[in-house]
Amino acid sequence: MTAPTDDIDRIMAVMQTAFDPAYGEAWNRRQLEDALLLGRCRTLLIGPDGAMPPEGGPAAGFALLRTTLDEEELLLFAVDPRWRRRGLGAALLDQVIATARAGGCSRIMLEMREGNSAEGLYRAFAFLPMGRRPKYYRTLDGQLLDAITCACSLA
Ligand SMILES: CC(C)(COP(=O)(O)OP(=O)(O)OC[C@H]1O[C@@H](n2cnc3c(N)ncnc32)[C@H](O)[C@@H]1OP(=O)(O)O)[C@@H](O)C(=O)NCCC(=O)NCCS
Repeated sequence: MTAPTDDIDRIMAVMQTAFDPAYGEAWNRRQLEDALLLGRCRTLLIGPDGAMPPEGGPAAGFALLRTTLDEEELLLFAVDPRWRRRGLGAALLDQVIATARAGGCSRIMLEMREGNSAEGLYRAFAFLPMGRRPKYYRTLDGQLLDAITCACSLA
C-alpha cells in the first residue's frame, strides 16, 4: 500500500521533530517510501485537534503499521513535541487498535527501547512485555540499550 506524497511530507515533518537524535530512531524519507512501496504497510495521521487532518493541513502525529497475516506491527509512532501531553498519542493508539481490529488482526506487536517515555502509554493500552533483546540499540554516544518487545491482544 502506498501513501500520497502529501501524507509522506506531513509524516516527515513530524518525524524530523519527534525523535530524539541521540537514539537515531527517526527514519529518513527513503526508508519510509521503501516501506510503503514494499506493501503491507499503512499510515495513520492525526491532526492537532485529534481528527484526521484535512488535505494540506498539518499532522500533529502519525503511526506506521505493517500487517502480516493477522498480526499488526507498530513500526513507528510519534507526536510532534509541540502537541504532546494533550491526549493525541492516546487517540492515535485508539485508532491503531480500532483499525487493526477492523482489519481482522488478533494482536499488535511493537518493539521499543528500554526507558522510552512511551512505555507508560503502551502499558495503559495493555501492551504487555513479551521479550527483550539485550543491547539491541546503540545510542549516538555508544551506549547499548535493550529492546523490549510488547504485544497487545485484540482477542
Ligand atoms: C510517545 C508519544 C507518541 C506520546 O504522545 P503524546 O501525545 O504526548 O501522548 P498522550 O498525550 O496521549 O499521553 C497519554 C499518556 O501517556 C503517558 N505519557 C505520554 N508521554 C509521556 C512521557 N513523556 N513521560 C511519561 N508518561 C508519558 C502519560 O500517562 C500520558 O497521560 P497524561 O498526559 O494524562 O499524564 C510522544 O511522546 C512521542 O512522539 N515520543 C517520541 C517518539 C517515540 O518515542 N515514539 C515511540 C516509539 S516506541
